[in-house]
Amino acid sequence: MSNLNGKIVLVTGAGGRKGVGRATALKLASLGADVTITDVPRPDDDLPPQERGDQWNGIESVAEEVRALGRECLTIPADLSSRSEIQDLIEQVVAKFGRIDILVNNARAIIGKDRVPVWELDADIWQHFLDINTTAVFLATKFAAKHMIDQGSGRIINIASAASKRGSPKSSAYCASKFAVLGLTQCAALDLAPHKITVNSVCPGGINTDRMNYAEQAEADARGVPLEAYRAQVVERMNQGTPLGRVAESEDVAHLVAFLASDEAEMITGQAYNINGGTLFH
Ligand SMILES: NC(=O)c1ccc[n+]([C@@H]2O[C@H](COP(=O)([O-])OP(=O)(O)OC[C@H]3O[C@@H](n4cnc5c(N)ncnc54)[C@H](O)[C@@H]3O)[C@@H](O)[C@H]2O)c1
Repeated sequence: MSNLNGKIVLVTGAGGRKGVGRATALKLASLGADVTITDVPRPDDDLPPQERGDQWNGIESVAEEVRALGRECLTIPADLSSRSEIQDLIEQVVAKFGRIDILVNNARAIIGKDRVPVWELDADIWQHFLDINTTAVFLATKFAAKHMIDQGSGRIINIASAASKRGSPKSSAYCASKFAVLGLTQCAALDLAPHKITVNSVCPGGINTDRMNYAEQAEADARGVPLEAYRAQVVERMNQGTPLGRVAESEDVAHLVAFLASDEAEMITGQAYNINGGTLFH
């Protein structure tokens, strides 16, 4: 696969210790790209246990890892529920690096409070999922596209989900917000195709991240076990239910993102690629 030397990348939601955002930033940097990473500052209670206190410093910790690879890394804290912060984010990337070649829309609303039957789903929680998982992807695409059109090239890669393709119980807000990403991906791909800008989604099944999940926290508390131990049981169950024998690691997703960002993928646009070890085929 060709390198990404000289490419300028923005990855959202990139502060997690085992997250897809971090893995993607490191993968693209290892291929030669300079990277901007962003995330929302979160109180300790909203972080997974492994990221609380001074053991992990979010995007600043990831930036140290990127710089150790010899690439530049700009960190920008931003809340993607704010339209103006998303616009500022894109403008700061272009002000610093002069362009934006690859946008990876990875952030998502912290899961858990949405995990209720549809009739119990709070309308504000619904709106928050739409804001972070869908509207922020649209706005980042809209603001970055203008620069990519001027450049005559660009790659937009949206981290969607198996939940973009198949509904499940107690997941109305998450699934609706992720289904919408695939519609946006197809339409934006068609709008931007004349400008040689591709737009694609990747759709992971379960991933072995230690992302915060309020529902898993509540279940761990109810069982009297630490969240990390409960999460390990969840991952083990998912491993057993996956034909290839394990759920994806964040790095598996990052490899697919890197391919979609590469020159070799220039004929691919509007697609939604599964990465799930054989659990879903459409
Ligand atoms: N983890 C999984 O099992 C899984 C499965 C399928 C798809 N995905 C998708 O992969 C992507 C990454 O998953 P993950 O588990 O690494 O993510 P995650 O749940 O840790 O969230 C990613 C980041 O989004 C950030 N974020 C939350 N609210 C924000 C806000 N208001 N403004 C800005 N950033 C905000 C978080 O701080 C976090 O660092 C997501 O889009 C997710 O939907 C994950």
